[in-house]
Amino acid sequence: MPVHPVPADRASQAAAAHARGPAGPVRSDAEVAGRVDALIAQMSVAEKAGQLTQYFYFALQPSEDLEAAFGASFSRQPAMVEAALARGEVGALLFVTDPVEVNRLQRLAVEGSRHGIPVLFGFDVIHGLRTIFPVPIAMAASWDPGCIEQGQAVAAREACAAGIHWAFAPMVDIARDPRWGRIIEGAGEDPYLGAAVAAAQVRGLQGDGLGSPDRVIAGPKHLAGYGAALGGRDYDEVNLSDSELWNVYLPPFRAAVQAGAGNIMTAYMDLNGIPATGNRWLLAEVLRGMWGFDGFVVSDAQAVHDLRTHGFAADLADAGARAVNAGVDMEMAIGDPAYAHLPDAVRAGLVDEDVLDGCVRRVLSAKVRMGLLDQPYVDEDRAREVLADPAHRAVARTAAQRSAVLLRNEGSLLPLTASGSIAVIGPLADSRRDTLGPWVFDYDLGETVTVLDGIRNRAGDGAVVGYAPGIRPAHRAFPSMFDMFGGNTPADPADFDDDAELARAVTLARESDVALVVLGEWQNMIGEAASRSSLELPGGQLALLQAVVATGTPVVLLIMNGRPLDLRWAAENVPAILDIWYPGTEGGTAVADVIFGDVPPGGKLPFSWPRTVGQIPVIYSHTISHQPGNQGRRYWDETSTPLFPFGHGLSYSRFEYRDLTVDRNQIHPGQTAIVSVTVTNTGQRSGDEVVQLYIHQRHGSASRPVRELKGFQRVTLAAGESRTLEFPLGPGQLRYWNAATRDWVIDTSTIDVFSGGDSTAELTTSFTIAA
Ligand code: NOJ
Repeated sequence: MPVHPVPADRASQAAAAHARGPAGPVRSDAEVAGRVDALIAQMSVAEKAGQLTQYFYFALQPSEDLEAAFGASFSRQPAMVEAALARGEVGALLFVTDPVEVNRLQRLAVEGSRHGIPVLFGFDVIHGLRTIFPVPIAMAASWDPGCIEQGQAVAAREACAAGIHWAFAPMVDIARDPRWGRIIEGAGEDPYLGAAVAAAQVRGLQGDGLGSPDRVIAGPKHLAGYGAALGGRDYDEVNLSDSELWNVYLPPFRAAVQAGAGNIMTAYMDLNGIPATGNRWLLAEVLRGMWGFDGFVVSDAQAVHDLRTHGFAADLADAGARAVNAGVDMEMAIGDPAYAHLPDAVRAGLVDEDVLDGCVRRVLSAKVRMGLLDQPYVDEDRAREVLADPAHRAVARTAAQRSAVLLRNEGSLLPLTASGSIAVIGPLADSRRDTLGPWVFDYDLGETVTVLDGIRNRAGDGAVVGYAPGIRPAHRAFPSMFDMFGGNTPADPADFDDDAELARAVTLARESDVALVVLGEWQNMIGEAASRSSLELPGGQLALLQAVVATGTPVVLLIMNGRPLDLRWAAENVPAILDIWYPGTEGGTAVADVIFGDVPPGGKLPFSWPRTVGQIPVIYSHTISHQPGNQGRRYWDETSTPLFPFGHGLSYSRFEYRDLTVDRNQIHPGQTAIVSVTVTNTGQRSGDEVVQLYIHQRHGSASRPVRELKGFQRVTLAAGESRTLEFPLGPGQLRYWNAATRDWVIDTSTIDVFSGGDSTAELTTSFTIAA
């Protein structure tokens, strides 16, 4: 069985990385190079090192605990940064979002620099700035790249208006361990979906390229493997096989680079024993060499500093030198930057000044392309207007509608009619802060629509809506670094009487026609530094749910989450379960839209939903091994298949799949087969379906997964409507990284093709790849 190596993809990817879309580059390469080289020629080594340093600028008084955790002083931060600005030794700032403050600090930079070089302002624009979108994992659950792109375009417009030039997004880390809290920031377990979502986000943030009006630089992160932290413990080491790295963890990064991302952020942890931020192979050989990335690389916060912490670099000077030599153009620092030692490192011959100039060139090129050298300041009046644009809320509402996933709907309990009496239960149902989710800072709580608000607004006078929290909020055992921002820790309601409140919720449910119970995790329990050792519903939520179900009133469970939770009891005892994630500013409105059937649910799970924490990791794309028939009974105490499979999500309608065909029986390596399938809405109402295409290679030079996603399309079909969809299967879908030959291969083999509404799809056909 011959193996066909496929050529390294450098040339095609480099070309794509340069592609700036239909509008082309806003500034020509020659203009950019000319301006940048003229500046570099006049800069001192200290100024160059400064250009490569990005500082946090916090106008906060963080706690001592936090300072101890970071090993840095936040309180001395503003004075230290302003002094560096006055010396012309700052390349970028982060965490400033007030346009007035942006202009003040920019003035310090421009006036402090002998060359008048402005700073870049970066920020974690993860799922919106003022208008908050559903969290990234929810956006991925829409399986709708167009919707994702539009959402990030709105986020970019708001960020740009506030004076931010660069978003530390998207997070494109594959996550297969939901104990890891940052699963919420990515697109889940799958490289194909992850790549599509990554590219859509880059397009949304950057538009046609650096300098596009109303857009910002996209910074995909964290290169690479961060999601595979040992035990799901954030920041801990990662050990990935060659096959996993190339076939699973790297493809979303490559897709983001191909989409033209202007920046890449490194990861905190050791990847196979080498800190990612000091990993020359990853940054120089793979990112720049193989993928042709021509933007600038930034370290994660304090990650250059951390090279010493890891026991990799001897001291800060060594850390800075090793990071620059590995390919980290800019250091993101809280304080005491390692890159401040670069002038010494150049003098000592540890860093070649040409290498330093290369880093400076990439950073300055981004500034020139963004138009910063021509217009460093932001229009403060326009910022106010743009941030208040109601059109942004409309996009966020659509996004929240499209990301909801209907996990279960026994007896077609949903959609509800807005009549009779409706009980809304659970503390998350009326929590504005939690509705938004983590990784947001500039939100407006007054504009945020909770589930309770949304239900009340939609029901109007048509139904009586009652509310009872039932239980008090649950708390983390260890506080989060985000607690310093205020409003992130749920407050216990005053005079909360646990027994009386539980009884009140139960009575409300008993006396209502239907109970909507909103459960999940408080938003500070998920995200960065929010790993968990269990997946149980925190606090007294399961007991609350059980008590409400025991009343006999039909229950709809709404899950507010960024990771799968242990829903084994609910999946057997609650007729309807809708995953609403953290749905954002317009979340409650969108949830009401879906619950009352104004729009159909059509999202699908971007991960396999485990039954229990002990099953982790559980993925749909496992290989077939000894006793495959026993796959669901690998544990003696619990079924080993997921509770809900990857790609699962119901509709208020039903879909049937037929006529799965391939346009030819046989192709040769390098050729493309076209698969088509017909989908019919056989239900009574219009509905959305994500048509999914999976392959399995029967034999070859490596064992391949039992299923791999290789295509999807979200469609809206009227009742009775059929549509035939086509999917290409060519080198991009059929090649894989072979760990034995250490190269991309396309095997001669038989390829089984499956299509359906989730990863267990049964409709199948096949074709062969012949030499
Ligand atoms: C650390 C996080 O890992 C990264 O994702 C984020 O962008 C930076 N901090 C800046 O906030």
